[in-house]
Amino acid sequence: MESPLDPAGSGGPDWEARYQAGDTPWEKGCAHPALVEWLRENRLTGRILVPGCGTGHDVRALAADPDALVTGLDLAPSAIARAESIPVVGGESYRLADFFSESAFEHGAFDAVFEHTCFCAIPPALRPAYARTVSSALKPGGLFLAIFYRNPSHDGEDGPPFGCSMEELGDLFGGDFQLIRETVGIPTFDGREDREIIRLMRKLPLA
Ligand SMILES: C[S@@+](CC[C@H](N)C(=O)[O-])C[C@H]1O[C@@H](n2cnc3c(N)ncnc32)[C@H](O)[C@@H]1O
Repeated sequence: MESPLDPAGSGGPDWEARYQAGDTPWEKGCAHPALVEWLRENRLTGRILVPGCGTGHDVRALAADPDALVTGLDLAPSAIARAESIPVVGGESYRLADFFSESAFEHGAFDAVFEHTCFCAIPPALRPAYARTVSSALKPGGLFLAIFYRNPSHDGEDGPPFGCSMEELGDLFGGDFQLIRETVGIPTFDGREDREIIRLMRKLPLA
């Protein structure tokens, strides 16, 4: 599959320019609090992919597990350079690539995918491709742990971040994935309270 996204001409943000300008309001300097909490009670192990990883805070939180081998993927060179400049905590590495590109990663190789602010950052028209790409990254039975930004605080349809409804999530991921658990009211960053959910899904064996 060729990438449906031309980062330079997609009409979406020029992510590299945003990093170079320091215009990165999503950059919180730490892993998402709900991921940190989830990892206190649960584990994600094996090969894990984090699309749109930015500077890698979530990657490092996941890589603190000695049984996790985590690949952070982002298309912005400055984000990857920053991530790679931070001392490794475990089995993490980074890759400069467009998530939608056929050669971005080894398909069917991952035990888990972790999502946080990549899905809400891409143009909504690419969401079906996003769901297919997550599915193709995973082994059958692989886990998809996602923090979805349902209703960002800005009004109207301007984004990113672009919100999403529960119905849309059900439609996008209902075919290839089984929903294991969904939690609202999760710990989060200032300004995102009650705007996100964390969902654990499993890729169906025959998907
Ligand atoms: C809103 S930022 C979030 C970064 C990180 N997840 C965080 O929370 O700090 C969205 C990130 O997705 C990356 N991104 C957007 N489209 C992408 C694509 N098609 N492939 C890979 N990365 C992408 C951007 O470069 C940016 O780093």
